Amino acid sequence: MNAATNERYLSGFGNHFATEAVRGALPEGQNSPQKVPFGLYAEQLSGAAFTSKRSENRRSWLYRLRPTASHGAYRPREGGAASLLRSGPFHEVPPSPNRLRWDPLPAPSAPTDFVEGLTTLGGNGSPAEGIGAAVHLYTLNRSMTDAVFTNADGELLLVPQAGRLRLVTEMGVLEIAPGEMGVLPRGVRVRVESDGGSEDGAARGYVCENYGAPFRLPELGPIGSNGLANPRDFLTPVAAFEDVDRPTRIVQKFQGGLWETELDHSPLDVVAWHGNLAPYKYDLARFQTIGTVSFDHPDPSIFTVLTSPSEIDGTANCDFVIFPPRWMVAEHTFRPPWFHRNVMSEYMGLVKGAYDAKAGGFTPGGGSLHNCMSGHGPDLPSYRRAVDAELGPQKIEDTLAIMFETRWVIRPTRFAMETSALQRDYDACWNGFPKAQL
Ligand SMILES: [Fe+2]
Repeated sequence: MNAATNERYLSGFGNHFATEAVRGALPEGQNSPQKVPFGLYAEQLSGAAFTSKRSENRRSWLYRLRPTASHGAYRPREGGAASLLRSGPFHEVPPSPNRLRWDPLPAPSAPTDFVEGLTTLGGNGSPAEGIGAAVHLYTLNRSMTDAVFTNADGELLLVPQAGRLRLVTEMGVLEIAPGEMGVLPRGVRVRVESDGGSEDGAARGYVCENYGAPFRLPELGPIGSNGLANPRDFLTPVAAFEDVDRPTRIVQKFQGGLWETELDHSPLDVVAWHGNLAPYKYDLARFQTIGTVSFDHPDPSIFTVLTSPSEIDGTANCDFVIFPPRWMVAEHTFRPPWFHRNVMSEYMGLVKGAYDAKAGGFTPGGGSLHNCMSGHGPDLPSYRRAVDAELGPQKIEDTLAIMFETRWVIRPTRFAMETSALQRDYDACWNGFPKAQL
């Protein structure tokens, strides 16, 4: 870790952090003293029920210039382009058993910020039930200005594919670039800034909106106490605040609807905070891949970065999985992802490079959906190459694929089924497999 990073971030996953932007702002020894230093307002932000067991309990104490409670009524958001943001329950179109794949979305033709540029491909569950997840893409070409966004419906896991994002949150600033990911807890206010970044001027990325239990590190079982994503590599911002008296719009997503209200100041005014509920980021290059050193292709769960568990042990509400650069050494083994049907449903995206089960069509910024029990696996060229390969140690380089895997069918939105980005000929990539000869 370099010194510059150390100046802005605290290291660790789920730790109880304490940070102050002004020396002496953080109360000592208690959470809500009669008089908070500097007259700051103490506010608890609860990301779990008060009585959640310790391992599940997440809360932070925020010390701010003004209480969050001081605002006028929210009203349904008006104006702006027709939003393609959707929330569960997902009933716009019937789910189909077909495999689906999409090209990247085009750059916006008009100035578009993070909220305006959220496009939902599908999802399951609903914020009302507190289960399930949604898959969104963001495509933006401008920063939010004099506005912040807050999502009461779930936490947001962001995976940039092109361009950097600067997430200016109540609890500090997170900068994430392609190759990294960031998580914004439910309810934390954020101003998303970006100056684009790709050739066409747009910043793009994938979003998993998690309505269920917050993401956490998976158990390691026989792997032991190290490996996969290590806790120390997760970074949480140090406290930073804005003392800005300028009209600022708050856009809130609540039960699927967008609402807004206006303040006469920036609400990103938390001078100090402590607790274990906070935004965080992670450099996916820090992920220690585990794989076979003998034969056969392990289940892709070996690449799980974070998991949101459901009430059924081992059956995730949603897993966040990556396929990063790695060595392949399995002997006498079909090395790419095998042919597969899964009770779980799999949305995949590609940050960069190529994916070892597809020779073409699955491009950076695009995505694919293989829902419950749909047959998928390598296309014909990838299959042939793997079967014919002279096997020796081989490194898969310059690639990063991601997956949101969930126990419920990902039901597409109308947009996902009608957009011209949907590849109508996806099934054809599995054409031409010759019959086995007995
Ligand atoms: Fe699969």
